[in-house]
Amino acid sequence: MKTPVIVCVDDEKTLLWSLQAELMHALGNDYLIETAENGDDALELIEELLEDGIELPLVISDQRMPGMKGEELLQKIHLIAPNTLKILLTGVANINAVGNAIKNANLYRYIAKPWDQTDLLMTVREAIHSYFQKQELAQFYADLEKKVAERTQQLQEKNEFLSMAVHDLKNPLTAIQGFSEMIKRHFDDIPKETVIEFADHIFISSWQMFEVIKSILDINALEAGKMALSIKKIDIREIAEWFVNHYTERAKAKNIILQFQSQEEQCEAMADEKSLRQVLDNLISNAIKYSPHDKHIFVRVSKNDKFVRCEIQDEGPGLSEADQEKLFGQFTRLTPKPTGDEHSTGLGLFIVKKMMESMQGKVWCESVLGQGATFIVEFPVA
Ligand SMILES: Nc1ncnc2c1ncn2[C@@H]1O[C@H](COP(=O)(O)OP(=O)(O)OP(=O)(O)O)[C@@H](O)[C@H]1O
Ligand SMILES: [Mg+2]
Repeated sequence: MKTPVIVCVDDEKTLLWSLQAELMHALGNDYLIETAENGDDALELIEELLEDGIELPLVISDQRMPGMKGEELLQKIHLIAPNTLKILLTGVANINAVGNAIKNANLYRYIAKPWDQTDLLMTVREAIHSYFQKQELAQFYADLEKKVAERTQQLQEKNEFLSMAVHDLKNPLTAIQGFSEMIKRHFDDIPKETVIEFADHIFISSWQMFEVIKSILDINALEAGKMALSIKKIDIREIAEWFVNHYTERAKAKNIILQFQSQEEQCEAMADEKSLRQVLDNLISNAIKYSPHDKHIFVRVSKNDKFVRCEIQDEGPGLSEADQEKLFGQFTRLTPKPTGDEHSTGLGLFIVKKMMESMQGKVWCESVLGQGATFIVEFPVA
């Protein structure tokens, strides 16, 4: 921090110097004592100090000066530095000037000339103390306000999250109730195949509820820092290739060709295997879920001396810039819709982002609307 400055203003040079000398002697190197011989010079000096971001705890000004009077100067200073404390030195007790300065410049004290040295120094010390105490208090309140705002925001987000979660659980639940009611009521009238079909709907709906609940539990654990991670050296190439094989059949159902590409034999990074699997699972399944038929999806793994990178590139609808901004939020179902009637909770990428952060990695998306999307994850190299 730059050294705070105390400004003294008086047209009588000898008095000004003796005031400066007294303050320098009393305050040592903790403060710089600057002087001005008239109001205009004082204002110019103070403007410069404020521009340089220097603390100005105190201005001491004489009242009777040619040109601008002390009370007027302090009033002007008050407009540009309202927190700076002001002391007025008056020769003959000038009640009017003091009254004006109290009213218009928030005068801290007035001291009669000739001043008593002990009295003056005590007043100056008190003023400095009070100035910094007030600042600390202001900082404390500002911090407190920031914290309250943050907490309120968090609470609001939690509330929104809860209401969306409830909404997402209500739909499948309604379906389950409807289908089970139908089976109960019409069991004797409907063919066996229809009962099986209804049971299927019930099963799928309960599975959807299960998925939502599982995601919510994951998010809660991640946010509370309770997700037990076991960060170990792990071959990203091997896991990515495993997922490509795992999803090949599902891609084929949409006539999508899923291709794995890597120049490397091994790409070892530091990651938690369970989270890593969940990340790749969501990114590769998204690429299949949102791609139309007859496209390609490329899964590439590469490394440099800092990161192991996995890219999942698709030829699907891509994402607008507005959609990209929301992509990693919670319950975000954006413009692209599943092309094969798959289920969509809108929590996958939110979890991916949290998981990547907890593994000191990164995830982002590069996309131009209509030209496919590439999701990229980077893990710290082992
Ligand atoms: N590869 C992609 N191409 C185009 N849009 C995508 C792609 N991946 C995700 N999106 C868009 O982003 C949204 C959020 O994806 P996210 O994975 O978070 O949720 P989801 O797939 O809808 O549901 P789930 O929770 O089951 O993963 C999707 O609804 C979709 O609109
Ligand atoms: Mg998803």
